Amino acid sequence: MNLPSPTVKRTRLALLLGFLGLLVLPLISFSAAIKLQSTPSQATAVGLGFGLAGLLTSLAAMVLGAMAIASARRESAPFGLAIVGIVMGLLGLGSSAFSSFVSLIAGLGGGHGRPFRREGLAQIAGTARNDGWLTPREALAGDDTLADAWRRDAQLEHASVAAFSRLSLELLAMGAPAALVSATHRAALDEVDHATRLFSLAHAIDGRALGPQPFAAAVGPLGPVDWARWARDCIIDGCIDEAASAMIAEAAARSAEAPAVRDTLAVLARDEARHAALSWSLVEWAAGARPEVVREALEAMLAEAEPAVSGAVRCDADGRAVEGAWAAARAEARAALRPSMVALCEGLRLPRAA
Ligand SMILES: [Fe+2]
Ligand SMILES: [Fe+2]
Repeated sequence: MNLPSPTVKRTRLALLLGFLGLLVLPLISFSAAIKLQSTPSQATAVGLGFGLAGLLTSLAAMVLGAMAIASARRESAPFGLAIVGIVMGLLGLGSSAFSSFVSLIAGLGGGHGRPFRREGLAQIAGTARNDGWLTPREALAGDDTLADAWRRDAQLEHASVAAFSRLSLELLAMGAPAALVSATHRAALDEVDHATRLFSLAHAIDGRALGPQPFAAAVGPLGPVDWARWARDCIIDGCIDEAASAMIAEAAARSAEAPAVRDTLAVLARDEARHAALSWSLVEWAAGARPEVVREALEAMLAEAEPAVSGAVRCDADGRAVEGAWAAARAEARAALRPSMVALCEGLRLPRAA
């Protein structure tokens, strides 16, 4: 029996690793990032882990492919497949880097507002010189890192304006009552206020007159509403995330030393709690309009494992959330919502009166 030569072995391994690095690992990374978006830290950790594994595997495929070519030349053997392995490795570097980037974006969180998603991924506008989102404030103490952190939150709040604007259009398409459409428009105005306050806070610290860049992603194709997807997003992004935002803002309003920061965070805490309550009102209304779809969405969410969290909802003297505070706030918000979800779900299972 002929054993495969070192060239053949290296070529096979290069092809296998090339396949893993080009398709399998980036696909797992991408899927994990999308699937785990309700827990952003997990989405980033798992997605980035598989993305980095894809990068290493692709590099290994290229090295093995090169080694196979070198030994093939010594043996005067063909090396076409080894070149394929190298090309797959090269393309794998690109696809793994892309999935790693997606995982980082999926982990976007920590702002005080409803995320604006496209294809499931949170979107934000970049920043540029723009004083259209600044209001005059007295200078505040703090370093560039702190200013950048408030500005990042401001970008997320700015994206929330688009999230509520789109939601109001969806509600019209779904036939929602005027009171809910009106409350959704008011929430969009709240987010304009939050973004302005936070861009101004950052400006008061580092003196840089920065605001949002044009947000091209805010407009785009709006197809028919997928009620199941809509209900799930409403629960995760609205009921849970905005309730968590309210908790963090409330903790920050208590812990921040600067009065200007405390005042800003107190406004955010009040508004975000109202937005979370609005989201639950939307889910209840949707449950009346499409009971089957909403019941299935609720059942799927109730079947998901609760994330194990050990941190506490705490903020520091700058008003910033400490490590683990967001995960703790989300877990607390999810646990607080659970009885309402169970009750609504059970109500939807009861036979309807004719
Ligand atoms: Fe909000
Ligand atoms: Fe907000």
